[in-house]
Amino acid sequence: MGQAEWARDLAKHLLEPTLPRRWAHTQGVANRAESLAPMLGAETDTLIAAAYLHDIGYAPDLVETGFHPLDGARYLRDVVKADDTLCRLVAHHSCAVNEALNRNLFDALTAEFDEERPELVEALTYCDMTTGPDGVHLDVSERLAEIHSRYGPEHLVSRSITASTPCILAAVRAVKSAMISSHQVGSP
Ligand SMILES: [Fe+2]
Repeated sequence: MGQAEWARDLAKHLLEPTLPRRWAHTQGVANRAESLAPMLGAETDTLIAAAYLHDIGYAPDLVETGFHPLDGARYLRDVVKADDTLCRLVAHHSCAVNEALNRNLFDALTAEFDEERPELVEALTYCDMTTGPDGVHLDVSERLAEIHSRYGPEHLVSRSITASTPCILAAVRAVKSAMISSHQVGSP
């Protein structure tokens, strides 16, 4: 069984009963990851697995710090002994360092989890930031606006998303141009 299938079962178990909307979002992010196969090739399975796992830190049983990338990555590392790539991708998904700074968890996050390769980090950010809370595909600008309206202007998450916006937009641009290149390579 590939990592994606294992990750899907784990995320479903952790999210669906208590956070069905988060599970719907997660499945949408995994679908986006699958669509990047022309660009990722053999690494698509890893990205789909990371997409399934990226928000498991919201599961009530996993919450420790309340910062879901760190709680999810620690659970993957310590409880299920997932491989380093998946732990790192979850820890740093969608430019998480900015929210870590605002939560005084920057040192913990960066000391415990190294950055993964930019191609994979950007791909996961792209998938998350072009998928709405119900799993429907959104343009990145709609997704950013949706996060701001869901949390409100003063919320730490909104402030962190503002700080992360250049990083998120750069990731989306990088993935779009890599996808265009991969399609061109594939055409006759
Ligand atoms: Fe997400």
